[in-house]
Amino acid sequence: METVSLGGSALNCSRLAYGCWRIVGSAESCEVTPEREAHGRKAITTAYESGYTLFDLADIYSGGESERIFGQALKSVSGMRERVLISSKCGIRKAGDPDPHSPYRYDFSAGHIIWSCEQSLKRLGIETIDLYQLHRPDYLSDPEEVAQAFSRLTQAGKVREFGVSNFHPAQLAALQKTCPTRLIVNQVEISLAKLDCFHDTTLDQCQSEKITPMAWSPLAGGRLGASDPIDLRDPGHARRLQLRETLDLIARAHESSRPAIALAWLLKHPSKIVPIVGSTDPQKISELTKAVDIELTRDEWYRLFEAALGHRLP
Ligand SMILES: NC(=O)c1ccc[n+]([C@@H]2O[C@H](COP(=O)([O-])OP(=O)(O)OC[C@H]3O[C@@H](n4cnc5c(N)ncnc54)[C@H](OP(=O)(O)O)[C@@H]3O)[C@@H](O)[C@H]2O)c1
Repeated sequence: METVSLGGSALNCSRLAYGCWRIVGSAESCEVTPEREAHGRKAITTAYESGYTLFDLADIYSGGESERIFGQALKSVSGMRERVLISSKCGIRKAGDPDPHSPYRYDFSAGHIIWSCEQSLKRLGIETIDLYQLHRPDYLSDPEEVAQAFSRLTQAGKVREFGVSNFHPAQLAALQKTCPTRLIVNQVEISLAKLDCFHDTTLDQCQSEKITPMAWSPLAGGRLGASDPIDLRDPGHARRLQLRETLDLIARAHESSRPAIALAWLLKHPSKIVPIVGSTDPQKISELTKAVDIELTRDEWYRLFEAALGHRLP
């Protein structure tokens, strides 16, 4: 697959990343059956064999089980560790962690960042995480403390590069002002069903600061590929219908599929968005790589943008 440098760093990865949030069968639950585990390992190895070389994880995905199963898959495939980049995240703490009465919260304290990274390394069975991201902005964050944690992890050889996730441009700029370690990615929700980053300057900041935008839920959790009937009582039904018809029209012109066109639409943006594919179905994981070879025209891109907006551009 075609590759891209993450934020101008030495980390080069495939244009599509593979996301391990759902590999255990349920994104949040920790209940792992042998069948779910085998399904997860199959999804990972299929992604690797299909050419994905960036794998996205987080400490909280299925309570750490996604990292553990990814680590197993990594060990079972000879040479895989040398050929892929591993990305994980920290900073969200679930209710009940560590005490039964602890609330759901965010935690960018140096102690938690370092501890969480070390736990992820153990579960993954590796020495170094290639890309480590802060999952969601912590309202009580002290940027100097974050900077210290990052430099300690770098010095200890535990992390190669850092990034953030779900940060607004001003939040990213404020952290970067204090933190000498360069932030090379901002992982945010971007898709034809979620256009905020086109309006709130996230993508402009990424382009001007050479930060790679990584797009989570690039198919809106599957809604952009779905063929279920659209509920006419849904207030957004006209827009959804228009978007679906436009995707189908363009998919036919490219002899492709609706989800592949939705990914190609993200790939065309000059900020070099890296969509994170989340399907766990081996056939879809492999089929979606065709998106990288689709070159949408400017007219097609704008037709889709207008359909997604649900109104004409001014
Ligand atoms: N930073 C954050 O806050 C954050 C938040 C959410 C996600 N993420 C990252 O982003 C990754 C991707 O998110 P996502 O899973 O929501 O992505 P997605 O690719 O938008 O959605 C994947 C889901 O759509 C379903 N789907 C239904 N029809 C599909 C089709 N035709 N083609 C492909 N998928 C179809 C898949 O089911 P099947 O498995 O049955 O194909 C799967 O459940 C995650 O794994 C995680 O790494 C990050």
